[in-house]
Amino acid sequence: ASRLLGLRGLKTSSRLDPVPYAFAFDIDGVLLKGSDPIPRAREALILLETKRIPYMLLTNGGGTHESDRVRYLSSKLGIEIDERQFVQSHTPFKEMAGKFENVLVCGGQGETCRKVAERYGFKNVVVPGDIIKWNSSVWPWHNFRFEGEDREWPKPKDFFAPEQKIDAIFVYHDPRDWGVDSQIILDLLLSKGGQQGTWSKTFDEGPPIYFSNPDLIWANQYPIPRFGQGAFRLLIEALYREMTGGKELKSTIIGKPHKLTYDYAVRVLSKWRAESYGVQAGKELDRSRVYMVGDNPESDIRGANENGLYSILVRTGVFRDAVNSEKYPAKTVCADVLEAVEFAIEREE
Ligand code: G3P
Ligand code: MG
Repeated sequence: ASRLLGLRGLKTSSRLDPVPYAFAFDIDGVLLKGSDPIPRAREALILLETKRIPYMLLTNGGGTHESDRVRYLSSKLGIEIDERQFVQSHTPFKEMAGKFENVLVCGGQGETCRKVAERYGFKNVVVPGDIIKWNSSVWPWHNFRFEGEDREWPKPKDFFAPEQKIDAIFVYHDPRDWGVDSQIILDLLLSKGGQQGTWSKTFDEGPPIYFSNPDLIWANQYPIPRFGQGAFRLLIEALYREMTGGKELKSTIIGKPHKLTYDYAVRVLSKWRAESYGVQAGKELDRSRVYMVGDNPESDIRGANENGLYSILVRTGVFRDAVNSEKYPAKTVCADVLEAVEFAIEREE
């Protein structure tokens, strides 16, 4: 803790302005592999803290509130990560809280994502477990066991009633039961005005749907990348196409590589730099000097390239052996995050 506090103390004690460049780090495949820190990741962050170089974490991961996630990351990485230097897949949804009355939030085990949405300010948050609790024939193959039954599942809320029209559908994280979530999402997309149990003939009366993470795959401890929320979205799109006789699902997708997420992240990073290093607030960083370090060419590198950041691809996650990504070549390719940080510092200094 003293080492951690000492590092934090560096930021406020020194009179020097911070350097005019900064870093955005992807998490899965760059800093962590599942729950395991990637070798030299901590060393890279400590080097930045010591040299007073601002950085943020920018992940397509999610499922818990930012405050809980940074506590977890700080313990895993052995360095204090502040909520103000952290953006995850659904963080930008905070700005939509007042827009809808009743929302369906999918992802994780339900209860956790409900709490995240409520802490963002969403009023009536329904999760798939509530609908199964209301009528388990909605998806008879579900393995939900509610509180007090043999397999503990987060307790649903007993308030769901079909009269409660759903105004918007959000996918915050990868659902634990794709059957339950896809059935309920299609029920609503094909419904009259978001009312569970109704059926629209025109298929264009359902609520809007927002996905928070486009990743088809991501890297954890398993030697081959795993399906991400993007794979779940393909299932929803395919079911919608089949059920509507060929109509394409209209949806909003945020998360890397999308512009909304990168614009949001650069604002967060610039604000964090101002608050923690005392430079005048409001001045956005020069994006060409924001080093985006990622392992997935489809999200991290494509997003950095298309949004003006300096892309650095590392070989510790989804991307492995080739010289560079053919589809979305990074400006620089490094072995790991420490090499990426050392490269950028040398380039800048
Ligand atoms: O669900 C997490 C996965 O999609 C990728 O996360 O940290 O590599 O953007 P990250
Ligand atoms: Mg990654």
